[in-house]
Amino acid sequence: MERSPSRCGNVSCESTRPLVVTIDGPAGAGKSTVAKKLAERLGIRYLDTGAMYRAVALAGYRQGVNWQDDAQVRRLLQSIELHIEEDRIFLNGEDVSDLIRSPEITRETARAADVFQVREFLIAQQRAIASRESLVTEGRDQGTLVFPDAHVKFFLVASPEERARRRWRDFKRKGIDISYEKVLEELLQRDEQDSRRPFGALKKAPDAIEIHTDGLTVDQVVDILLTHIRKHIGTDSPSG
Ligand code: DC
Repeated sequence: MERSPSRCGNVSCESTRPLVVTIDGPAGAGKSTVAKKLAERLGIRYLDTGAMYRAVALAGYRQGVNWQDDAQVRRLLQSIELHIEEDRIFLNGEDVSDLIRSPEITRETARAADVFQVREFLIAQQRAIASRESLVTEGRDQGTLVFPDAHVKFFLVASPEERARRRWRDFKRKGIDISYEKVLEELLQRDEQDSRRPFGALKKAPDAIEIHTDGLTVDQVVDILLTHIRKHIGTDSPSG
């Protein structure tokens, strides 16, 4: 097979297709921060699939869509154009990156993510992006359903208390007033919802590498992932 380093960013990989690294795991396990940094180190694109579900949920919330009504959902999806640029997401041209993080939209997203049509719509977009360029993609179903043939798969976990602490600190930084207990309660509820979903449920792929992030810094986690990636597909460049 031909070596094609440019397709795989800083990684020299023997692949005829763009590199796909998946990171799945429950809310608050540190996926976004880790995935973003890992993509940077590898010199490839980062894809936050949670943001895609959140943007669709925001659109539905604004239009008062009933997620159980197939025709309403179809019309909604026909009216949506998503554009993702680094870590910003645009809904029909509007930058909604901050709006989609509110507790309200977080709750709406868990409902929208249950809808088959929504998943089908977003999975097609995720696969289209991956067919064009190498990426580190994070979500719940990336290593299982969306990219079963990904080059390297990770499953990030942390204790519920640690995850709730991280989320609560994030909210505080953004000036959102919510108690730690409420964050923990909602997180456990979301774990339950994410795991029970009929399609694209949160699940570790059998060939995913499980990493416990409790007590580790982002850089330590990224280093661990890079070590696994090197072992699996080659080495990242000295500058990477
Ligand atoms: O990772 P996050 O918290 O931004 O995800 C928001 C919601 O979207 C969460 O309830 C799970 C759902 N989701 C999903 O079902 N599949 C994905 N690939 C990503 C997120």
